[in-house]
Amino acid sequence: MRILITGGAGFVGSHLALLFKRDMPDSIVISLDNLKRRGSELALGRLAAGGVEFRHGDIRNREDLSDVGNLDLLVECSAEPSVQAGLAGGDRYLINTNLVGTINCLDFARTHGAAVVFLSTSRVYPIAPLRELPLVATQTRFVIPSGSAGAGWSARGIAENFPLAGNRSLYGASKLCSELIIAEYVALYELRAIINRCGVVGGPWQMGKFDQGFVVFWAARHLFRGPLSYNGFGGAGLQVRDVLHIDDLYRLIRDQIAQMPVHNGKTYNVGGGAECSVSLAELTKACAERTGQRLTINQQPETNPVDIPYYVTDNSAVTAATGWSPQLAMSAILDDIFAWLRKHRRELEVILK
Ligand SMILES: NC(=O)c1ccc[n+]([C@@H]2O[C@H](COP(=O)([O-])OP(=O)(O)OC[C@H]3O[C@@H](n4cnc5c(N)ncnc54)[C@H](O)[C@@H]3O)[C@@H](O)[C@H]2O)c1
Repeated sequence: MRILITGGAGFVGSHLALLFKRDMPDSIVISLDNLKRRGSELALGRLAAGGVEFRHGDIRNREDLSDVGNLDLLVECSAEPSVQAGLAGGDRYLINTNLVGTINCLDFARTHGAAVVFLSTSRVYPIAPLRELPLVATQTRFVIPSGSAGAGWSARGIAENFPLAGNRSLYGASKLCSELIIAEYVALYELRAIINRCGVVGGPWQMGKFDQGFVVFWAARHLFRGPLSYNGFGGAGLQVRDVLHIDDLYRLIRDQIAQMPVHNGKTYNVGGGAECSVSLAELTKACAERTGQRLTINQQPETNPVDIPYYVTDNSAVTAATGWSPQLAMSAILDDIFAWLRKHRRELEVILK
């Protein structure tokens, strides 16, 4: 197998590259990345030590891809992954990477008859209907009351048939556009492809920022000190996300590519699920317990136009199709992140502080 991971020095891409190489040592695994994300440069040593070949390249340039040569599998993990990207008006990088660059990857895979796994996002679901879920506030979080349900949602979370009408952020729109193009390539050009709409993914080597990678960001602020605030939805930190450990995501993708004919052309919601969800207020408590730091969290009641109060993945479809379900609980994900932050404090503090 020759496997190309685009965005292969990023959080998801570097893990997948190293785990593929670990489990298929005879394969050639190539990570291509333009190192746009601060901190991705730290992956280069890990990739080399793990036997992964690194190519400095940009998916916006077709030539950078064609230099890679033959291919059996392309896992598209490169992106401007912030839902807030483009809010200030500059959306060219986002569109040219997340949409045009992805199409370059699809063309490249098609040329070589390679299969594609596309890392999409829960942010393809529109903002207004997610804000209209009948959420109830408890002391620490928003919940969907058990028993209530509607089109594509229930107390289990958000399913693939959640209605798609409405705006969703430029980030979400760029990913949904890519999904539509992938469906056409599958139908017209016989490209083999799987789409995973991921909720929040977490784990070591995520260069968490306030607008992407919030679990690492919160943990790092507690450990290295720095300001934090509960933004939006009343400013009490009740908003909820589910979190999937990167190792669980890898297990799923490994199983999917082993059964490509079964999953070809399919789109799955993939996440930690209701059992592995957390609110910001609960995350603060968990971080304080692990660090002994009780930070004063600022409160910003105004809600950002692209923010949503609640997203939990309903994994029913992917579990039924693959038998996969997440194994690592929120406490294990946090323990893993804190162990990594402590071990690599010197190199991480300058990036994450
Ligand atoms: N991490 C999450 O919680 C999450 C959730 C849902 C979906 N996703 C998706 O998973 C994928 C990976 O996300 P991540 O968390 O690893 O993000 P990341 O920012 O850590 O990794 C993305 C990598 O892509 C690289 N990159 C950016 N533009 C590029 C370009 N034009 N050419 C080549 N490389 C480029 C960056 O340098 C970075 O190393 C993305 O597509 C993201 O949208 C991530």
